[in-house]
Amino acid sequence: MSAPSRTPAGTLRPEHVGKTVRLMGWVNRRRDHGELVFIDLRDRSGLAQAVFDARFIPDAALLALAKELRSEFVVDVTGSVVARDADAVNKDLPTGAIEVRATALVILNRADTPPFPIEDGIKAAEDLRLKYRYLDLRRPEMTQRFVARSAVTMAIREVLHEEGFLDVETPILTKSTPEGARDFLVPSRIHEGEFYALPQSPQLFKQLLMVAGLERYYQIARCFRDEDLRADRQLEFTQVDVEISFPTEETVYALIEKVFTRVFPKWGIACEAPFRRMTYDEAMERFGIDRPDTRFGLELGNFPGFEEKISSKVERVKGLCVPGGASFSRKRLDDIEKGARAAGVEWFFWVKTAGPGSWNSNSKKFFDDAAIERMRASFGAGESDLVFLAAGKSKSVFDFLGSLRLQIAREEKLIPEGRYDFLWVTDFPLLEWHPEDARWYATHHPFTSPREEDLPFLESDPGRVKARAYDVVLNGMELGGGSIRIHRSDVQSRIFARLGIGPEEARAKFGFLLEAFRFGAPPHGGIALGLDRMLMILTGSTSIRDVIAFPKTASGTDLMTDCPNPVAPEQLAELHIALAKPPKTEG
Ligand code: AMO
Repeated sequence: MSAPSRTPAGTLRPEHVGKTVRLMGWVNRRRDHGELVFIDLRDRSGLAQAVFDARFIPDAALLALAKELRSEFVVDVTGSVVARDADAVNKDLPTGAIEVRATALVILNRADTPPFPIEDGIKAAEDLRLKYRYLDLRRPEMTQRFVARSAVTMAIREVLHEEGFLDVETPILTKSTPEGARDFLVPSRIHEGEFYALPQSPQLFKQLLMVAGLERYYQIARCFRDEDLRADRQLEFTQVDVEISFPTEETVYALIEKVFTRVFPKWGIACEAPFRRMTYDEAMERFGIDRPDTRFGLELGNFPGFEEKISSKVERVKGLCVPGGASFSRKRLDDIEKGARAAGVEWFFWVKTAGPGSWNSNSKKFFDDAAIERMRASFGAGESDLVFLAAGKSKSVFDFLGSLRLQIAREEKLIPEGRYDFLWVTDFPLLEWHPEDARWYATHHPFTSPREEDLPFLESDPGRVKARAYDVVLNGMELGGGSIRIHRSDVQSRIFARLGIGPEEARAKFGFLLEAFRFGAPPHGGIALGLDRMLMILTGSTSIRDVIAFPKTASGTDLMTDCPNPVAPEQLAELHIALAKPPKTEG
């Protein structure tokens, strides 16, 4: 009789009792009771118990071999599925009602003792986990994240395929793209002194695919950005990148809502379309941030007329009322004040309210009973509340209060668990003024279309021009962003002029795109979703590193392969590169 084919261990159930099965996987744990040796055998599907029981094993050598087993040995076990005695049933394990009574064992490979236990919820330092990433990924909670990742990309592909999208790959060795981060450069061996850039996104190529007439493009695309890393940012990450010909904003919203309503509920996350919408201006005024977490209140408020009391130089005054916040300690308030200074807020006040006419503040100079009464009315502050007021440059005021709101919500546990708020943020400003070099920058990228009705103000009042750009936000995380693009060369020239990009520079940087637009470019637009961020939420992960198989550390290194690393002088010479400083020696 030929050996049975392999059965995934985690799939065994009572209905398999009586069957002969063959399991291949890793020894998760071995317990030796003399005449009885138990192993938990682990493979991708889960765990099953195999038992080597002297009473049923004719061959003494088999029991001896089973006694050699250690954690992480790779084994091939054949046996029959039997029901466990009632008192031996493990209710925590899907396979806990049965076990495999082994009749054959092959040790396929032995293993050193792993540097950390291969199990869920371990306390090992992340650096160690990253150095031995292949062992870390063997832990069931990590394995399951990649099972989810694969299922999510499959579900996304299904929707996009149904909707008539073509999967097209675009170059990795390419020219600098305009997403606004720093590029990773790749030196050319053949063209001395010249460089490729790794794509920050496939932005210009997907637009060219629309000029090419492909109409609906998508790609699960790898993107590269040399930027400072955070919990939701990596140097290389994956986008679900989409572009559509002849769209309106509604076409894009409907498509992404279709993708999300297909994907999120499969992982137990309620997701109903259409999503709520909020303009950028409203998001800033109410939440101080363009990706508001709308799961809780604590909204920012106004204190009309207060700015005149402070200084004529005040651009904005905004405030935040914390109900019950009168109990905040002095130390906590001092720390918050330090945060305000660090954010560049020029005037920072807190006011604690007590009974009628009774209050306390870090500043007596700007407040009297009448002002406090007006403030109470503006913020709806009652008896034992706390009002923060920040004044100064708009950007600092919004940045500070926007993050203070989130900080207090976290500390005070105001964020409801298990709630998911999907939101479109719309009508972003087209341009941003950067005072440090006194010029306008594109908020999104220079190919984003302004709203038609705002075009007359492009030269006279650029700050009021809104873009046809949108972000999709979930629980305060930006999951995706996109826009309807400019497809007319006259509008494009005006935008370049506004951005201080002269015709020469435009030709050098984006000439190929501008030229393409002369040959019948259809109106087009699209969006890119951050796939890693989606997976963070779907798998309940707090770090983007947990959903990327081989991520970089916060300082951009790969601890497993030990890169980046110095290269041989000959390799540099071949690339026509001389280092300004000698490389660090290894070790
Ligand atoms: P944008 O720059 O907004 O748009 O990027 C789209 C989405 O990609 C994700 N993302 C990241 N995820 C992890 N690490 C990073 N460093 C990182 N940077 C961005 C975010 C973000 O919302 N070409 C445009 C899209 C378009 O206009 O169609 C673009 O790349 O979730």
